[in-house]
Amino acid sequence: TELSRIRNFSIVAHIDHGKSTLADRLIQLTGTVAERDMKAQMLDAMDIERERGITIKANSVRIEYPAQDGHTYILNLIDTPGHVDFAYEVSRSMQAVEGSLLVVDATQGVEAQTLANVYQAIDADHEIVPVLNKIDLPAAEPERVKEQIEDVIGIEAHNAVLISAKTGLGIPDVLEAIVQRLPAPKGERDAPLKAMLVDSWYDSYLGVVVLIRVMDGVIRKGDTIRMMKTAATYKLDTLAVLKPQMVQIDALGPGEIGVFTASIKQVRDTRVGDTITHEKKQTPKALPGFKPSVPVVFCGLFPVDANDFDDLRDAMEKLALNDASFSFEMETSAALGFGFRCGFLGLLHLEVIRDRLEREYDLDLITTAPSVVYDVHMKSGEVEQLHNPADMPDLTLVDHIEEPRIKATILVPDEYLGDVLKLCQERRGIQLDLTYAGPRAMVVYDLPLNEVVFDFYDRLKSVTKGYASFDYQIIGYREDNLVKMSVLVNDEPVDALSMMVHRDRAELRGRAMVEKLKELIPRHMFKIPIQAAIGGKVIARETLSALRKDVTAKCYGGDASRKRKLLDKQKAGKKKMRQFGKVEIPQEAFISALKMD
Ligand code: GTP
Repeated sequence: TELSRIRNFSIVAHIDHGKSTLADRLIQLTGTVAERDMKAQMLDAMDIERERGITIKANSVRIEYPAQDGHTYILNLIDTPGHVDFAYEVSRSMQAVEGSLLVVDATQGVEAQTLANVYQAIDADHEIVPVLNKIDLPAAEPERVKEQIEDVIGIEAHNAVLISAKTGLGIPDVLEAIVQRLPAPKGERDAPLKAMLVDSWYDSYLGVVVLIRVMDGVIRKGDTIRMMKTAATYKLDTLAVLKPQMVQIDALGPGEIGVFTASIKQVRDTRVGDTITHEKKQTPKALPGFKPSVPVVFCGLFPVDANDFDDLRDAMEKLALNDASFSFEMETSAALGFGFRCGFLGLLHLEVIRDRLEREYDLDLITTAPSVVYDVHMKSGEVEQLHNPADMPDLTLVDHIEEPRIKATILVPDEYLGDVLKLCQERRGIQLDLTYAGPRAMVVYDLPLNEVVFDFYDRLKSVTKGYASFDYQIIGYREDNLVKMSVLVNDEPVDALSMMVHRDRAELRGRAMVEKLKELIPRHMFKIPIQAAIGGKVIARETLSALRKDVTAKCYGGDASRKRKLLDKQKAGKKKMRQFGKVEIPQEAFISALKMD
């Protein structure tokens, strides 16, 4: 295909602003999928994505569009994940296209994720077409939102396309805008092959499928290619375009996007951002490439029932096949037995994986406190990466500890601003910026990631009644006065509850933690001391009193239904308990104990 007849683009949007609905419409209007095959949200392949309404894996579709100028154009949409945990996948797919549609819900306006994603598009030098969605709703305020886009993002918005992805209104204008306003790709047909590895995934029938964008040269079915970073060579079995189902094709030239299979065994054998060239005639210069996505949040996952350990390992291996950024290794905990220490890109990633393990593989899991990765600078000059507070080295050998910091952007209606500032301040935040976009404030904070991983989202949502939007990126590591706090139940340390805290916040957290545990641990036949300690020093203590013989005795009088309820509750609770020495601790305690109210 001629370069001038190709347009490559992605769609950036905040969650729920209508990205998937618009993609569906574009596919539908151009007849890419027969009407009867059209299911809502074509591009969100996995059930869990559909249920949660979040797009995780970048996906792609090729659309043929007969434009008003009489020519037929090939439009390649690369779908990008909307959430910050997957920021790396966003930035990589941005490099493969020349333009973006910026979808903003005309009833809501610009949100934190809109900003985070659009800045990535700007960084990738994209031409950006603003699209205001949901104008069918009476609450839509397109003029106000246009102004906001110009003020907050700083891009031209007077010629934004007004649409309703739901009713289909304005969709032809979007297609015309793509053709007229986005640039055609550049590239040289006669140069040696240079293609970017944009994404890869595991398909149970085809094996690893690799999504590529050709920069220069031509790739053909049957070619032998070389991946420049891994130096591995493969012979192409199939070459195809996604419509969005695979349709075989003989060749892909400059500017084109497609997929191939080549008997590649694992997703891990493919490096996103790698340059693909021909084995024989190699390109002299590889693409700049990308930084690998490194896990930033770690937690332990243990089976509630120790007999499920092998099933858990099998399930994790399957999930990891398709998700190179999810890592796990075996871990043994004195309290929890055999399990895994797992690494994730962020909190959402953690939740998604845990959910899939529980639902798709029917496993009951105990999740230990999420922890960020600390750089522990030893007196010897070595730097150790601490993924698990339980592995904290001997303090006398430690010089100082550095923790990851984030730049958080929060958009919030003015009336809740005070509460948001208070929350950020409590979490050791440093205010970087405060500006207004209409009736809403945009605050930017420098925050320690460890203060965000437990329950920051939940707290933010509750203090703003759900009206705030939040996004973050990691900005680097900084030293602070950090200590390991251990928790002792019945004088035995429970390693799964130990955590890194700031020294100044240790007492507060320790007290909150032991109070919570006192509520969460059922009473036993004996008295149970619950303590928080730093090194050998106890900083907070509660005592859970012993149980009297008859549990139901504390239900005054003879309210039978209430008695039964209590007994049922005990029975249900029993299933999800773990034995710690002589004490049984319910599964939910491991997360609940860490939340601060
Ligand atoms: P993520 O996949 O979570 O990033 O969300 P998204 O941006 O893809 O949003 P999605 O397309 O799932 O739309 C979110 C909700 O808005 C859905 O309930 C849609 O039905 C609804 N919606 C999308 N477009 C319109 C529109 O033009 N008008 C109205 N009234 N509702 C819309």
